[in-house]
Amino acid sequence: MTTHIPKAELHCHIEGAASTELALRQAEKYGVDISGLIDGNRFQWDDFTSFLAAYDQTAALFRTEEDYALLSQTYLESIAEEGAIYSEIFTSPDHARGAGLSPDAYLNGLGEGIRRARESHGIEGRIIITCVRHYGGEQAVDVARYAAGKPHELVTGFGMGGEERMGSHADFAAAFDIARDAGLGITTHAGELVGPESVLDAIDHVRPTRIGHGVRAIEDPALVDRLAEEGIVLECCPGSNVSLSVFKDFDSHPFRDLLDAGVKVTLNSDDPPFFATTLGREYAMAQSAFGMSDDELRQTTRTALEAAFVDEDTRRALIAKL
Ligand code: ADE
Ligand code: ZN
Repeated sequence: MTTHIPKAELHCHIEGAASTELALRQAEKYGVDISGLIDGNRFQWDDFTSFLAAYDQTAALFRTEEDYALLSQTYLESIAEEGAIYSEIFTSPDHARGAGLSPDAYLNGLGEGIRRARESHGIEGRIIITCVRHYGGEQAVDVARYAAGKPHELVTGFGMGGEERMGSHADFAAAFDIARDAGLGITTHAGELVGPESVLDAIDHVRPTRIGHGVRAIEDPALVDRLAEEGIVLECCPGSNVSLSVFKDFDSHPFRDLLDAGVKVTLNSDDPPFFATTLGREYAMAQSAFGMSDDELRQTTRTALEAAFVDEDTRRALIAKL
């Protein structure tokens, strides 16, 4: 167990953080049949495409400000009980709109859940607004404009998830420029389902300080050196990668090799119940499978806090907890 190690998470999609129990309760509330979505206590999917469909189906079960307050509150409280002191949640106004909720109400609900979890468990949180790659560059510009307008005080970053095998980051450069110019931190998914060329494409076109996953950079030693030299932080999600068969098991995961090569790596849960994981399990697996000592795990948390999209006073206060 690693409950005694303070943890920080930079990469968790909030709709993907709904437990099966909460999803079932929401389905009952709205009279939706989700027997095809949940089997026993697990979400049903069998590859990345069906995972994204299951994710969308789950997102559609959250329809009001209070639904989202409950979602962020319960998620943050659950990881606080595993030792988490900080979490950045990835949010998607496109998904909220799809469920009939305005982006403002969506963020207000999520912000209220963060406030409640801070009050009950002392965990700090921030919000990253993401666009969806498979919805294309124009829609991403709309999302970026919305994020750039500082729609909520806890919004501090902009990112992109979705189908990495579609398009190029060049299609999203305009969106990321809008977000960066507004002072938002920049992260994007790359090097998860596609190899090192996808990480290079992201670096070249959107200049992120952090990359979601990025782990397939390991296939290109020159790129690994570049990540280390430029201090680009990888939001690694080993449990997600193993679950989606990006790597066949934890022993084959390059987390340790990247760390040893000087790359700044962090531990994250991505979409925890979908991948039968939690932030606590990611830290525990890093200890048992990657041989991380308590000190190394604490350093991983420090790396995350140093890369967090948060004001300097809050960063200092969080680092002091280590
Ligand atoms: N959206 C939710 N989870 C994701 C993942 N692992 N990769 C890309 N987009 C996502
Ligand atoms: Zn992700």
